[in-house]
Amino acid sequence: MPALRTPSISFVNLKGGVGKTALAVNVAFALAEWYGRSVLLVDIDPQFNATQHLLDESIIVKGLKGKTIKDILDPPPPTMPVGTGKKKKKKAPRPSPRRFLREIEVADGSLHLLPSLLDLSFVNRNPQAQHGRLEKYLHEIEDDFDIILIDCPPTISILTMAAFNASRYYVIPVTPDYFAPIGIPLMEEEVEYFLGNLHADTAEMQPLGIVFTIVDQRWHANWEDVANRVKGATEIEVFDTHFSHSKRWRDCAPKHRPVYEEERSGTQRRQLEQFMEEFMERLETAESERAE
Ligand SMILES: Nc1ncnc2c1ncn2[C@@H]1O[C@H](COP(=O)(O)OP(=O)(O)OP(=O)(O)O)[C@@H](O)[C@H]1O
Ligand SMILES: [Mg+2]
Repeated sequence: MPALRTPSISFVNLKGGVGKTALAVNVAFALAEWYGRSVLLVDIDPQFNATQHLLDESIIVKGLKGKTIKDILDPPPPTMPVGTGKKKKKKAPRPSPRRFLREIEVADGSLHLLPSLLDLSFVNRNPQAQHGRLEKYLHEIEDDFDIILIDCPPTISILTMAAFNASRYYVIPVTPDYFAPIGIPLMEEEVEYFLGNLHADTAEMQPLGIVFTIVDQRWHANWEDVANRVKGATEIEVFDTHFSHSKRWRDCAPKHRPVYEEERSGTQRRQLEQFMEEFMERLETAESERAE
């Protein structure tokens, strides 16, 4: 299958709770509202935290069953028409691939979500599920979007493989804990394994960078030492911007809004603005190198 034409970026780390979802959701809002882009955010985590951040509980409970990423990766078997079969029935029109997407209200640009639910975990125990199906699906709708972001679960499974398969780039959010320098080479090894063994010819997946998140001077007093050890342990570039610990990141989720709405001016907004500048610059550079 040819690679996607629309740039796609996974937010990945094998460690949980490092801010992958918070960052993916907020970058999605920023790309739409600050940069006027048409954004698709793919939630491929059975914990469905990105989905909970963006959609009302009532929609999640009542309206998502059968209309999530699970149904793309592991579709129900086609139902056979009942009857003698004498009269040939007219074929039903093919349902729109956009039926899985939810539009999120934004001030500018556009933001759509491909949601997830808990039953996405079942995909892992179904040998019929195929990790190539996400990319195949995205091919059908990608022309409606300028950029695709994918929020990954913290473990390696067919779900992460599906995300890797559909990703041109990846960002690694990292909390500056003592063990961070050990985790990143493992993450790189996993990506190398994927590229080398599963998709040597077609897959491409380049790192856009490592970003330090949830940095709290109380717990991470020596975090700059950790950052230097990380830089020594990998060739992946570290973003200059980091994200400080702030309860505002947690507070914005139940409101289904981005962190920058929690404050008019302040650290969280400024850090996201700086990160977005770096992110766009790296993305544009990588895209123009790719086009050469
Ligand atoms: N900069 C921050 N300061 C404080 N809390 C944060 C920050 N970023 C994210 N959080 C909070 O930390 C928790 C973990 O973040 P998040 O869910 O984004 O991590 P994750 O890497 O996606 O986790 P998982 O691996 O389980 O999917 C969430 O409650 C989130 O609101
Ligand atoms: Mg998450």
